Amino acid sequence: MKEKLDLLAHKKAEALLGGGEKRIEAQHAKGKLTARERIHFLLDEGSFEEMGMLVTHRSTNFGLDKQKFLGDGVVTGYGTVNGRLVYVFAQDFTVLGGSLAESHAQKICKLMDMALKNGAPLLGLNDSGGARIQEGVVSLGGYADIFYKNTMASGVIPQLSAIMGPCAGGAVYSPALTDFIMMVENTSYMFVTGPNVVKTVTHEEVTAEELGGASTHATKSGVAHFTYPNEIELINNLKKLLSYLPQNCEEDAPSIPYTIADESRIALNEVIPQNASQPYDIREVINQVIDKDSLHEVHKDFAENIVCGFARLAGKSIGIVANQPAFLAGVLDNHASNKAARFVRFCDAFNIPLLVFEDVPGFLPGTDQEWNAIINNGAKLLYAFCEATVPRITVITRKAYGGAYDVMNSKHIGADLNYAWPSAEIAVMGAKGAAEIIFKKDIKEASNPEQKWQEKEAEYAELFANPYNAAARGFVDEVIEPSQTRKKLIKAFSMLSNKVDHLPKKKHGNIPL
Ligand code: HXC
Repeated sequence: MKEKLDLLAHKKAEALLGGGEKRIEAQHAKGKLTARERIHFLLDEGSFEEMGMLVTHRSTNFGLDKQKFLGDGVVTGYGTVNGRLVYVFAQDFTVLGGSLAESHAQKICKLMDMALKNGAPLLGLNDSGGARIQEGVVSLGGYADIFYKNTMASGVIPQLSAIMGPCAGGAVYSPALTDFIMMVENTSYMFVTGPNVVKTVTHEEVTAEELGGASTHATKSGVAHFTYPNEIELINNLKKLLSYLPQNCEEDAPSIPYTIADESRIALNEVIPQNASQPYDIREVINQVIDKDSLHEVHKDFAENIVCGFARLAGKSIGIVANQPAFLAGVLDNHASNKAARFVRFCDAFNIPLLVFEDVPGFLPGTDQEWNAIINNGAKLLYAFCEATVPRITVITRKAYGGAYDVMNSKHIGADLNYAWPSAEIAVMGAKGAAEIIFKKDIKEASNPEQKWQEKEAEYAELFANPYNAAARGFVDEVIEPSQTRKKLIKAFSMLSNKVDHLPKKKHGNIPL
């Protein structure tokens, strides 16, 4: 037996070394951790159980028969994060550049099947040179197998992707099919074709960082939902994100015990500026309403005119969507609509109630918006809210103008409760613009057109720049003092906690993608 135990120990020691000391040193020199170190920092101590440690590839092409590494470039297994089960794979860049081929893909697929059957999140730590070039089409097949399983698991278990190195070619599509993408600044990048191919095809000169680095995807494309300065921060925030999420679509997110105290927040009465065209930061409102320091923003640096994020209210997980008057006046545009629509759908898929703060002057006009399909993109957000069956509450803090009033979780599209502050202005458009259109003739013919315009503006504002018309029709359930918002919301979400709502029977809807 001793020799057999020694053989096992020898094999395990070999597997633990991945591509060998030299390559591990090279990995560290790039400021990157190894796959096993990442798993060590991610999971609860001693909880990791590895599967497939002794798997190898079966290829003999281009000298691969002499380059066999136990585990085939990906570490897979299960463990716990804060005591909750997760499945994790971590690509090992020290083994053939973490490249993916037949066996590597099979290991990931096996893990995905287990995660789906057992209803626990799948965490992917990506660091790979893409399809293993020597193995040819089996590498492509391996990716496609993963894409298929990502799609099958979508909406059933949370799937989170951390990009901790290169992620090129078709490899980007697995993360893109998952729920959230996190990137490390300066050491990770994602693109369909790299800078060399770009140069050949379009003659553009661009660095890998500019083309697909963390900051590019966090600010320009919106592909990355979160970016962090280093791997440890990413890992810590991945754990934090998990704390807001349920294990699967059949469960509720975990909650923290909470005892109701004095829930008035008097400072909220002072947030809205006297002048309705003056901006304020909606986070001031959000942070007063939610449990202290509980906002975990998604897409923080992308489409800043809308704030999306997870938070806790009286210890329970909620999803927040809020127009941001401090950025582009909180207008809805293509990026903001896409950002919020995807977030709403995630929350709905995973039973996370939605809280909407509304202060929106409308959709952004212009050729750029129209030619980039604001019609479709705005419709996505509309669709996402319409089909969401989780508890949904809206608080109109100030402007609720035009189509944006309808879109931002209005009563008409299924919100359960709609509150307005006394500062709310619910109308087809702002008073100035409205007066110009409907009193055009009166203004033109007046002896003092400017004065006439102001009179008519005041008349329109008097009638519509308030919440009472909407309240009279029941479109707003209650006009509330801002200081009472948190108190009301805690009660209201508790009242809605057993909400049951079903969509009509269908194969699936046809969201305007
Ligand atoms: C096999 C690979 C590999 C790959 C890297 N390696 N990529 N082996 N297949 N795709 C190996 C290298 O040979 C090297 O082996 C080790 O990994 C580290 O690579 P380096 O180049 O030394 O590292 P670095 O300088 O950091 O550059 C990393 C890199 C570069 C940017 C990822 O290696 C690279 O450009 N690789 C090719 C990327 C690519 O074009 N992939 C295919 C994309 S197409 P040794 O033995 O020296 O350690 C694709 C199609 C999928 O993925 C389609 C699905 C639908």
